[in-house]
Amino acid sequence: MTASSVVPHHVAIVMDGNGRWANKRFLPRLAGHKQGVESLRRCVRACIQRGVKVLTVFAFSSENWNRPAEEVSGLMSLLASALGREVPSLSAEGVRLYFVGERQGLSDKVAAGLAQAEQATAHNERLVLNVCFNYGGRWDIAQAAARLAARGEPITEASLHAATALAHVPDPDLFIRTGGEYRISNFLLWQSAYAEFFFSPSLWPDFDEAALDAALQDYASRERRFGQTSAQVQQVAASQVRA
Ligand code: FPP
Repeated sequence: MTASSVVPHHVAIVMDGNGRWANKRFLPRLAGHKQGVESLRRCVRACIQRGVKVLTVFAFSSENWNRPAEEVSGLMSLLASALGREVPSLSAEGVRLYFVGERQGLSDKVAAGLAQAEQATAHNERLVLNVCFNYGGRWDIAQAAARLAARGEPITEASLHAATALAHVPDPDLFIRTGGEYRISNFLLWQSAYAEFFFSPSLWPDFDEAALDAALQDYASRERRFGQTSAQVQQVAASQVRA
């Protein structure tokens, strides 16, 4: 196996840059988010084709409630309409949807739509798509700790991990942020302990197959050591080739 054939099992993305994409075109910010949905659809297909098994995206953060009311309600409507339009074709392509985040605070209609989409795709196995909505990394760690405390269970790394909202998938291997900013903005704080980071200059609506491939190629060239030395990692790799 060559280094360039290594495909990450789990890719996580902060889809940043919708607002700037719209501003550059003198369009309302919501037009950028709409184009963001198109970009997400393209990215899901590309991930399936490249053998990625889990894709986790940040669609609405716990802090996004602080945006202008018009943008918040626009994002809620966009989610509702995207669900109605996209779920049948995503399901036909073998995508299993999970919505990760706090359901409290969402309207009954939006919450019911999320539950329905999860149910309708529960049998699919080709790609898990986690859409983080009303999500924050600190929220996740706090809710996991609170659940353990309420059950009177000891808090260990393993028990806390099992109580987090993404316990149904392995941790992300590759964490991408588009839009040219270098921060993680409260996304996957617990889960990205050993993720490889890639910061793309593309605004999210412009993040196409070539931009994804640039991130995957960069990932394939990394040596992941998980706290070990380079010599140890190479020894394990050599023994795997011999076996
Ligand atoms: C960040 O760009 C993006 C968001 C807050 C929303 C992300 C949502 C989508 C890509 C659409 C998919 C969403 C749903 C509802 C399924 P920004 O607005 O912060 O961009 P800026 O940094 O250029 O202002």
